[in-house]
Amino acid sequence: MTGNSVIQTEQLTDKSPEKIRRMFDSIAPWYDFLNHFFSLGIDRRWRRTMVKRLLNETSLEGSILDVCCGTGDLTLEFMKQTKNREFYGIDFSQEMINIGLRKIKTYQNNEIPIRFMVGDALNLPFESNRFSIVAVAFGLRNVGDTERGLSEMLRVCKPNGTIAVLEFSMPKQPIFSTVYRFYFRFVLPYIGQFLARNQDNAYSYLPESVLTFDEPEELVQRLQLLGVTDIQTQPLTFGIATLIWGRKKQ
Ligand SMILES: C[S@@+](CC[C@H](N)C(=O)[O-])C[C@H]1O[C@@H](n2cnc3c(N)ncnc32)[C@H](O)[C@@H]1O
Repeated sequence: MTGNSVIQTEQLTDKSPEKIRRMFDSIAPWYDFLNHFFSLGIDRRWRRTMVKRLLNETSLEGSILDVCCGTGDLTLEFMKQTKNREFYGIDFSQEMINIGLRKIKTYQNNEIPIRFMVGDALNLPFESNRFSIVAVAFGLRNVGDTERGLSEMLRVCKPNGTIAVLEFSMPKQPIFSTVYRFYFRFVLPYIGQFLARNQDNAYSYLPESVLTFDEPEELVQRLQLLGVTDIQTQPLTFGIATLIWGRKKQ
């Protein structure tokens, strides 16, 4: 590795809140389109699977929180699959939230029980033990302090409630993994930057942040150390993404 590429990697994995917020603010208009384009629409299926699992395995009624909700797709999926609850989505990018707000406007006449809020995952503006499900999809990797992000999610989760993380992971099957790594590192960043031009190279940051983030096993360990019980994992689409969920102790 050359000196330059080391410096570039350090910059790409810079997770200062200012940089991350600016990056998502600037790609917000392209975010949904590129998500569905790069994943061939599979990201929708991952969120559907996540929501179905969590609803099946959580006995508690009550409010649901989507942390780092971005443009709100996970929150909306919860709303599609369950009724008679309140749904909250929180994200620190105003532009991402604005897109979520536009989506819910087109849904119904503002009667829908979703609240999108601008706020920090590292300092959630909710009282402790408030939600029956606290979930994050493709967000935890971007949060400056993983430990603190998980602790905050756990704090606002009710005892016996469910905490869940959906995150990219690297597939383990050798041939698939080689092809995927090539696509992920050398194809996706160029198309992404070409379409969603932004000063922070968001689509180079994406593979770098995945490759330098915790493996699913490490996330499981973190959750165990925080006292989460009954932890389960489910690799999705050959392990391109992994769903991890568990229960907050009584
Ligand atoms: C890759 S997007 C995921 C959006 C959405 N959850 C989804 O499934 O598409 C990551 C989001 O995390 C948000 N984010 C990163 N760090 C955050 C923090 N500390 N507090 C709140 N939001 C944060 C970003 O603004 C961005 O919208």
